[in-house]
Amino acid sequence: MDQPKYNADLQVRPVGDQDLGAARNLAGRAFGEDCQEWFGGDTTLGGFDTDGTIVCVLDYDPASMWWGTAQIPAGAIGGVATDPKHQGRGHAGGLMVKTIHLLREQGRCVCPLWPFSFAWYGKFGWSCPTTVATLKLWPDLVRRTGAPVGTVRPAEPDDVAEIERLYNASAQQRNAQSVRSAAQWEKRWRSQVWVLEADEGLACSALVRIRQLERGQGKRVVVRELHGTSFAEQLSLVRSLAEMEQVTAIELNVPPDSLFLHAFSEQFDISSEHELALRVLDVPGALRHLQPADDLQACVSFEVAD
Ligand SMILES: CC(C)(COP(=O)(O)OP(=O)(O)OC[C@H]1O[C@@H](n2cnc3c(N)ncnc32)[C@H](O)[C@@H]1OP(=O)(O)O)[C@@H](O)C(=O)NCCC(=O)NCCS
Repeated sequence: MDQPKYNADLQVRPVGDQDLGAARNLAGRAFGEDCQEWFGGDTTLGGFDTDGTIVCVLDYDPASMWWGTAQIPAGAIGGVATDPKHQGRGHAGGLMVKTIHLLREQGRCVCPLWPFSFAWYGKFGWSCPTTVATLKLWPDLVRRTGAPVGTVRPAEPDDVAEIERLYNASAQQRNAQSVRSAAQWEKRWRSQVWVLEADEGLACSALVRIRQLERGQGKRVVVRELHGTSFAEQLSLVRSLAEMEQVTAIELNVPPDSLFLHAFSEQFDISSEHELALRVLDVPGALRHLQPADDLQACVSFEVAD
């Protein structure tokens, strides 16, 4: 692993009310967009130069992640920014190193983030465990699977408990998925969820975005995340979305080992991208949260390069 260069003297602390405006302004300059609604609260960390100037900032989400049926405490980092006039002096690196220690002290064992550069975060110990495949399809290709068409509709408030059940079941089959409470589903996610009805409750749900294409070319349905554990139900949901009026294009974001990669009779566009990178902050702590089967016998070895 390359040894990272970083500003070890950077002072890192939560950004209080008096520095929040400066933090937002510097993020605005770094990202080149309006960041006036960003940050706030104890989870925003600022990096301060020796003269007390705030030079960089980040925010973290103190969430947990599923590993099988175990929930591991995590801190998901986002919004990393260094003021353009102070860039290239190791401030962001110093902020990452101090944040690793701070999150570890809080008992957070893993840290996911969505990198601007895998090489740069790689120097600080992040690596890339997830790849996402994007399949671009058209409705007739989905129709030819013969999957049954059911009733699909946007989720309503009463669906939240069922959505949570379906999401948790699929999240527990894939490591490194975020733990989402019923309140988070309601506040943050439900408006993006579509559901496939079953005789009782819901058969399947998904995060879906529907875009109107230009010049009367119809609509593109982007399925960003499928819930539940039944492939047949998931395919039925996708087929039902494909049958909606004016749908001309379908995009599926799926794990790289998804059965969807083999579900269609014809060649389609497929791309594969790195997505989330992860750093284990506390190896024994993370292992302690896992719930191996009582009769499991295994030998775990690892090297910690901190
Ligand atoms: C990315 C950013 C936070 C780095 O801040 P910084 O304080 O200049 O970072 P450091 O001085 O610690 O590290 C600089 C290193 O980052 C690398 N780097 C900066 N931007 C990069 C990019 N877009 N892609 C790849 N590497 C990049 C530099 O080449 C340098 O590499 P080196 O250490 O091998 O010399 C800053 O450039 C920024 O605010 N960018 C705009 C916002 C952004 O994209 N944030 C990241 C969101 S995840």
